[in-house]
Amino acid sequence: MNEFNKIVEFINKSPKAELHLHIEGSLEPELMFKLSKRNKIEIPFKSVEEVRAAYDFSNLESFLKIYYEGSNVLINEEDFFDLTWEYILRCKQDNIVHTEIFFDPQSHLPRGVSFNSVISGIDKALKKANQDFGITSKIIMCFLRHLDEDQCFDVLKQACNYKDKIIGVGLDSSEKGNPPIKFKKLFEQAIKEGFLTVAHAGEEGPPEYIWDSLDLLKVKRIDHGVQCLKDEKLVDKLIQEQIPLTVCPLSNIKLCVFDKLEDHNLKKMMNKGLRVMVNSDDPAYFGGYLNKNLIETSKALNLQIDDVKELLENSFKSSFLDEKSKNHWLTKMH
Ligand code: ADE
Ligand code: ZN
Repeated sequence: MNEFNKIVEFINKSPKAELHLHIEGSLEPELMFKLSKRNKIEIPFKSVEEVRAAYDFSNLESFLKIYYEGSNVLINEEDFFDLTWEYILRCKQDNIVHTEIFFDPQSHLPRGVSFNSVISGIDKALKKANQDFGITSKIIMCFLRHLDEDQCFDVLKQACNYKDKIIGVGLDSSEKGNPPIKFKKLFEQAIKEGFLTVAHAGEEGPPEYIWDSLDLLKVKRIDHGVQCLKDEKLVDKLIQEQIPLTVCPLSNIKLCVFDKLEDHNLKKMMNKGLRVMVNSDDPAYFGGYLNKNLIETSKALNLQIDDVKELLENSFKSSFLDEKSKNHWLTKMH
Protein backbone atom coordinates (compact mmCIF):
# COMPACT_ATOMS: atom_id res chain seq x y z
CA MET A 1 0.00 0.00 0.00
CA ASN A 2 1.44 3.43 -0.84
CA GLU A 3 1.75 6.18 1.79
CA PHE A 4 -1.32 8.08 0.66
CA ASN A 5 -3.55 4.98 0.72
CA LYS A 6 -2.35 4.35 4.27
CA ILE A 7 -3.44 7.84 5.27
CA VAL A 8 -6.84 7.35 3.64
CA GLU A 9 -7.26 4.08 5.52
CA PHE A 10 -6.17 5.73 8.76
CA ILE A 11 -8.67 8.57 8.25
CA ASN A 12 -11.52 6.23 7.41
CA LYS A 13 -11.02 3.92 10.37
CA SER A 14 -10.18 6.44 13.12
CA PRO A 15 -12.82 7.76 15.50
CA LYS A 16 -13.33 11.49 15.12
CA ALA A 17 -15.04 14.50 16.63
CA GLU A 18 -16.53 17.30 14.54
CA LEU A 19 -16.71 20.72 16.20
CA HIS A 20 -17.77 23.10 13.43
CA LEU A 21 -20.91 22.02 11.58
CA HIS A 22 -23.95 24.16 10.77
CA ILE A 23 -26.90 21.79 10.68
CA GLU A 24 -28.63 24.01 8.08
CA GLY A 25 -25.44 23.66 6.01
CA SER A 26 -25.93 19.90 5.82
CA LEU A 27 -29.18 20.32 3.83
CA GLU A 28 -28.52 18.33 0.65
CA PRO A 29 -30.33 19.45 -2.52
CA GLU A 30 -32.33 16.18 -2.59
CA LEU A 31 -33.79 16.87 0.86
CA MET A 32 -34.31 20.53 -0.08
CA PHE A 33 -36.56 19.38 -2.95
CA LYS A 34 -38.36 16.82 -0.82
CA LEU A 35 -39.13 19.42 1.87
CA SER A 36 -40.11 22.08 -0.65
CA LYS A 37 -42.77 19.67 -1.94
CA ARG A 38 -43.81 18.44 1.51
CA ASN A 39 -44.22 22.00 2.82
CA LYS A 40 -45.35 23.60 -0.45
CA ILE A 41 -42.52 26.14 -0.33
CA GLU A 42 -41.22 27.37 -3.68
CA ILE A 43 -37.48 27.30 -4.28
CA PRO A 44 -35.79 29.14 -7.14
CA PHE A 45 -34.42 25.93 -8.73
CA LYS A 46 -35.93 23.37 -11.14
CA SER A 47 -33.64 20.42 -10.41
CA VAL A 48 -31.02 19.08 -8.03
CA GLU A 49 -28.43 19.73 -10.76
CA GLU A 50 -29.54 23.36 -10.98
CA VAL A 51 -29.14 23.73 -7.21
CA ARG A 52 -25.62 22.28 -7.29
CA ALA A 53 -24.69 24.54 -10.22
CA ALA A 54 -25.72 27.57 -8.14
CA TYR A 55 -23.14 26.63 -5.49
CA ASP A 56 -20.43 28.72 -7.10
CA PHE A 57 -19.47 31.29 -4.51
CA SER A 58 -17.10 34.25 -4.63
CA ASN A 59 -17.01 34.96 -0.88
CA LEU A 60 -18.88 34.37 2.39
CA GLU A 61 -21.64 36.87 1.53
CA SER A 62 -22.48 35.21 -1.79
CA PHE A 63 -22.78 31.84 -0.02
CA LEU A 64 -24.94 33.13 2.84
CA LYS A 65 -27.61 34.44 0.43
CA ILE A 66 -28.17 30.95 -1.01
CA TYR A 67 -27.75 29.23 2.38
CA TYR A 68 -30.55 31.31 3.97
CA GLU A 69 -32.78 30.73 0.93
CA GLY A 70 -32.23 26.98 1.25
CA SER A 71 -33.21 27.08 4.93
CA ASN A 72 -36.68 28.38 3.98
CA VAL A 73 -37.91 24.83 3.30
CA LEU A 74 -37.40 23.90 6.97
CA ILE A 75 -40.72 24.43 8.75
CA ASN A 76 -41.80 21.62 11.07
CA GLU A 77 -40.11 19.67 13.84
CA GLU A 78 -40.08 16.67 11.50
CA ASP A 79 -38.03 18.66 8.93
CA PHE A 80 -35.35 19.46 11.52
CA PHE A 81 -35.38 15.82 12.59
CA ASP A 82 -34.90 14.61 8.98
CA LEU A 83 -32.16 17.19 8.36
CA THR A 84 -30.25 16.17 11.49
CA TRP A 85 -30.77 12.46 10.92
CA GLU A 86 -29.29 12.68 7.40
CA TYR A 87 -26.21 14.35 8.88
CA ILE A 88 -26.00 11.62 11.54
CA LEU A 89 -25.95 8.96 8.82
CA ARG A 90 -22.96 10.78 7.32
CA CYS A 91 -21.33 10.78 10.77
CA LYS A 92 -21.80 7.03 10.93
CA GLN A 93 -20.20 6.65 7.49
CA ASP A 94 -17.24 8.86 8.44
CA ASN A 95 -16.81 7.30 11.89
CA ILE A 96 -17.59 10.57 13.69
CA VAL A 97 -18.27 9.47 17.27
CA HIS A 98 -18.92 12.92 18.71
CA THR A 99 -20.32 16.03 17.03
CA GLU A 100 -21.02 19.58 18.20
CA ILE A 101 -23.52 21.20 15.90
CA PHE A 102 -24.57 24.80 15.33
CA PHE A 103 -28.07 25.94 14.54
CA ASP A 104 -29.32 29.40 13.51
CA PRO A 105 -32.73 30.08 15.16
CA GLN A 106 -32.83 33.59 13.70
CA SER A 107 -33.13 32.23 10.18
CA HIS A 108 -36.26 30.32 11.23
CA LEU A 109 -38.13 32.38 13.86
CA PRO A 110 -39.01 35.31 11.52
CA ARG A 111 -40.68 32.78 9.16
CA GLY A 112 -43.08 31.75 11.92
CA VAL A 113 -41.20 28.57 12.84
CA SER A 114 -41.20 28.02 16.60
CA PHE A 115 -38.00 27.70 18.63
CA ASN A 116 -39.43 24.49 20.04
CA SER A 117 -39.90 22.90 16.59
CA VAL A 118 -36.27 23.62 15.69
CA ILE A 119 -34.63 22.45 18.89
CA SER A 120 -36.92 19.44 19.41
CA GLY A 121 -36.38 18.13 15.87
CA ILE A 122 -32.61 18.43 16.20
CA ASP A 123 -32.56 17.00 19.71
CA LYS A 124 -34.72 13.97 18.89
CA ALA A 125 -32.44 13.00 16.00
CA LEU A 126 -29.37 13.41 18.22
CA LYS A 127 -30.94 11.25 20.95
CA LYS A 128 -31.68 8.55 18.35
CA ALA A 129 -28.07 8.84 17.13
CA ASN A 130 -26.92 8.06 20.63
CA GLN A 131 -29.33 5.15 21.06
CA ASP A 132 -28.76 3.57 17.65
CA PHE A 133 -25.07 4.29 17.05
CA GLY A 134 -23.59 5.50 20.37
CA ILE A 135 -22.78 8.86 18.74
CA THR A 136 -22.61 11.67 21.32
CA SER A 137 -23.31 15.33 20.63
CA LYS A 138 -23.70 18.89 21.88
CA ILE A 139 -25.83 21.71 20.47
CA ILE A 140 -24.56 25.29 20.08
CA MET A 141 -26.97 28.10 19.19
CA CYS A 142 -25.54 30.76 16.88
CA PHE A 143 -26.54 34.40 16.68
CA LEU A 144 -26.58 36.01 13.23
CA ARG A 145 -24.05 38.84 13.48
CA HIS A 146 -25.52 40.89 10.61
CA LEU A 147 -28.55 41.53 12.86
CA ASP A 148 -28.73 44.00 15.75
CA GLU A 149 -27.68 42.92 19.21
CA ASP A 150 -31.02 44.11 20.66
CA GLN A 151 -33.07 41.50 18.84
CA CYS A 152 -30.78 38.68 19.99
CA PHE A 153 -31.74 39.01 23.66
CA ASP A 154 -35.18 37.54 23.04
CA VAL A 155 -33.62 34.53 21.30
CA LEU A 156 -31.25 34.08 24.25
CA LYS A 157 -34.27 34.18 26.57
CA GLN A 158 -35.91 31.38 24.58
CA ALA A 159 -32.68 29.35 24.69
CA CYS A 160 -32.78 29.59 28.48
CA ASN A 161 -35.81 27.27 28.40
CA TYR A 162 -33.64 24.61 26.80
CA LYS A 163 -30.48 24.72 28.91
CA ASP A 164 -30.63 20.93 29.15
CA LYS A 165 -30.15 20.75 25.37
CA ILE A 166 -28.02 23.78 24.42
CA ILE A 167 -24.48 23.89 25.80
CA GLY A 168 -23.27 27.13 24.31
CA VAL A 169 -23.78 30.08 22.02
CA GLY A 170 -21.81 31.15 18.97
CA LEU A 171 -21.65 33.94 16.40
CA ASP A 172 -21.92 33.38 12.65
CA SER A 173 -23.05 35.01 9.35
CA SER A 174 -21.35 38.02 7.65
CA GLU A 175 -18.12 38.67 9.49
CA LYS A 176 -16.73 41.80 7.85
CA GLY A 177 -18.30 44.94 9.31
CA ASN A 178 -19.90 43.02 12.19
CA PRO A 179 -17.19 42.96 14.87
CA PRO A 180 -17.45 40.98 18.12
CA ILE A 181 -17.83 44.18 20.17
CA LYS A 182 -21.35 44.52 18.73
CA PHE A 183 -22.35 41.50 20.85
CA LYS A 184 -20.40 42.14 24.07
CA LYS A 185 -23.48 42.64 26.29
CA LEU A 186 -25.31 39.67 24.75
CA PHE A 187 -22.41 37.32 25.38
CA GLU A 188 -22.00 38.64 28.94
CA GLN A 189 -25.63 37.76 29.54
CA ALA A 190 -25.22 34.33 27.90
CA ILE A 191 -22.24 33.55 30.15
CA LYS A 192 -24.26 34.65 33.21
CA GLU A 193 -26.95 32.18 32.14
CA GLY A 194 -24.33 29.43 32.11
CA PHE A 195 -23.71 29.02 28.37
CA LEU A 196 -20.22 28.43 26.99
CA THR A 197 -19.23 30.77 24.14
CA VAL A 198 -17.56 30.37 20.75
CA ALA A 199 -17.43 32.70 17.72
CA HIS A 200 -16.58 32.68 14.04
CA ALA A 201 -13.60 35.00 13.71
CA GLY A 202 -10.73 35.43 11.28
CA GLU A 203 -12.51 33.54 8.51
CA GLU A 204 -12.50 36.59 6.20
CA GLY A 205 -12.24 39.19 8.94
CA PRO A 206 -9.07 40.64 10.51
CA PRO A 207 -7.02 39.27 13.45
CA GLU A 208 -8.54 42.02 15.64
CA TYR A 209 -11.83 40.10 15.52
CA ILE A 210 -10.03 37.08 16.99
CA TRP A 211 -8.54 39.23 19.78
CA ASP A 212 -11.95 40.71 20.54
CA SER A 213 -13.71 37.35 20.49
CA LEU A 214 -11.27 36.19 23.15
CA ASP A 215 -11.19 39.38 25.24
CA LEU A 216 -14.79 40.59 24.94
CA LEU A 217 -16.83 37.46 24.20
CA LYS A 218 -14.66 35.14 26.36
CA VAL A 219 -14.83 32.38 23.78
CA LYS A 220 -13.50 28.87 24.46
CA ARG A 221 -12.86 28.25 20.75
CA ILE A 222 -12.40 30.33 17.61
CA ASP A 223 -14.32 29.08 14.57
CA HIS A 224 -12.03 29.27 11.51
CA GLY A 225 -9.31 31.65 12.78
CA VAL A 226 -7.16 31.16 9.66
CA GLN A 227 -6.37 34.90 9.45
CA CYS A 228 -4.45 34.70 12.76
CA LEU A 229 -1.09 34.20 11.03
CA LYS A 230 -1.18 37.89 10.05
CA ASP A 231 -0.55 38.82 13.71
CA GLU A 232 2.47 37.33 15.47
CA LYS A 233 1.44 38.47 18.94
CA LEU A 234 -1.95 36.85 18.48
CA VAL A 235 -0.34 33.61 17.31
CA ASP A 236 1.83 33.63 20.48
CA LYS A 237 -1.27 33.98 22.66
CA LEU A 238 -3.21 31.28 20.79
CA ILE A 239 -0.27 28.88 21.16
CA GLN A 240 0.39 29.71 24.80
CA GLU A 241 -3.25 29.27 25.80
CA GLN A 242 -3.83 26.42 23.33
CA ILE A 243 -7.04 28.07 22.08
CA PRO A 244 -8.71 25.68 19.62
CA LEU A 245 -9.23 26.91 16.05
CA THR A 246 -11.93 24.95 14.21
CA VAL A 247 -10.52 25.09 10.67
CA CYS A 248 -12.69 24.15 7.65
CA PRO A 249 -10.47 23.64 4.58
CA LEU A 250 -13.03 22.85 1.82
CA SER A 251 -15.21 25.73 3.05
CA ASN A 252 -12.24 28.11 2.81
CA ILE A 253 -11.64 27.09 -0.81
CA LYS A 254 -15.32 27.31 -1.84
CA LEU A 255 -15.55 30.78 -0.26
CA CYS A 256 -12.27 31.89 -1.87
CA VAL A 257 -10.41 32.51 1.40
CA PHE A 258 -7.53 30.63 -0.31
CA ASP A 259 -7.25 30.12 -4.08
CA LYS A 260 -6.60 26.41 -3.84
CA LEU A 261 -6.21 23.72 -1.19
CA GLU A 262 -2.45 23.57 -1.79
CA ASP A 263 -2.30 27.22 -0.59
CA HIS A 264 -4.19 26.52 2.66
CA ASN A 265 -2.25 27.53 5.80
CA LEU A 266 -3.35 24.57 7.98
CA LYS A 267 0.07 22.90 7.98
CA LYS A 268 1.80 26.23 8.75
CA MET A 269 -0.54 26.61 11.72
CA MET A 270 0.29 23.09 12.89
CA ASN A 271 4.03 23.70 12.52
CA LYS A 272 3.76 26.73 14.80
CA GLY A 273 2.05 24.67 17.52
CA LEU A 274 -1.47 26.06 17.15
CA ARG A 275 -4.29 23.78 18.26
CA VAL A 276 -6.18 23.19 15.02
CA MET A 277 -8.46 20.47 13.73
CA VAL A 278 -10.44 19.87 10.53
CA ASN A 279 -14.21 20.33 10.17
CA SER A 280 -16.77 20.46 7.37
CA ASP A 281 -18.72 23.70 8.17
CA ASP A 282 -21.55 23.44 5.59
CA PRO A 283 -20.82 20.13 3.84
CA ALA A 284 -23.86 20.09 1.52
CA TYR A 285 -22.72 23.42 0.06
CA PHE A 286 -18.96 22.97 0.10
CA GLY A 287 -18.64 19.55 -1.51
CA GLY A 288 -17.60 17.27 1.32
CA TYR A 289 -18.13 15.87 4.78
CA LEU A 290 -15.40 15.40 7.35
CA ASN A 291 -13.46 12.50 5.84
CA LYS A 292 -13.35 14.18 2.45
CA ASN A 293 -12.03 17.34 4.09
CA LEU A 294 -9.32 15.31 5.83
CA ILE A 295 -8.39 13.24 2.78
CA GLU A 296 -8.24 16.12 0.31
CA THR A 297 -6.34 18.33 2.73
CA SER A 298 -3.85 15.55 3.50
CA LYS A 299 -3.22 15.12 -0.21
CA ALA A 300 -2.89 18.83 -1.01
CA LEU A 301 -0.62 19.63 1.96
CA ASN A 302 1.27 16.34 1.97
CA LEU A 303 0.24 15.55 5.54
CA GLN A 304 1.68 12.45 7.21
CA ILE A 305 -0.15 9.98 9.47
CA ASP A 306 1.23 11.73 12.56
CA ASP A 307 -0.18 15.04 11.33
CA VAL A 308 -3.63 13.51 10.84
CA LYS A 309 -3.36 11.91 14.29
CA GLU A 310 -2.62 15.33 15.79
CA LEU A 311 -5.66 16.83 14.04
CA LEU A 312 -7.93 14.06 15.31
CA GLU A 313 -6.52 14.24 18.84
CA ASN A 314 -7.08 18.00 18.82
CA SER A 315 -10.71 17.44 17.83
CA PHE A 316 -11.35 15.46 21.02
CA LYS A 317 -9.17 17.66 23.27
CA SER A 318 -11.02 20.77 22.06
CA SER A 319 -14.52 19.33 22.39
CA PHE A 320 -16.98 20.11 25.18
CA LEU A 321 -16.94 16.47 26.27
CA ASP A 322 -16.07 15.77 29.92
CA GLU A 323 -12.48 14.78 30.71
CA LYS A 324 -13.34 11.11 31.11
CA SER A 325 -14.90 10.86 27.65
CA LYS A 326 -12.03 12.84 26.11
CA ASN A 327 -9.53 10.44 27.63
CA HIS A 328 -11.55 7.45 26.49
CA TRP A 329 -11.25 8.54 22.84
CA LEU A 330 -7.66 9.78 23.15
CA THR A 331 -6.49 6.41 24.45
CA LYS A 332 -8.40 4.66 21.64
CA MET A 333 -6.33 6.59 19.10
CA HIS A 334 -3.03 4.97 20.09
N1 ADE B 1 -23.00 30.29 8.55
C1 ADE B 1 -22.90 29.09 7.99
N2 ADE B 1 -21.65 28.88 7.56
C2 ADE B 1 -20.93 29.98 7.88
C3 ADE B 1 -19.59 30.35 7.72
N3 ADE B 1 -18.68 29.58 7.15
N4 ADE B 1 -19.21 31.58 8.17
C4 ADE B 1 -20.10 32.38 8.75
N5 ADE B 1 -21.37 32.06 8.92
C5 ADE B 1 -21.80 30.87 8.50
ZN1 ZN C 1 -19.10 28.06 10.14
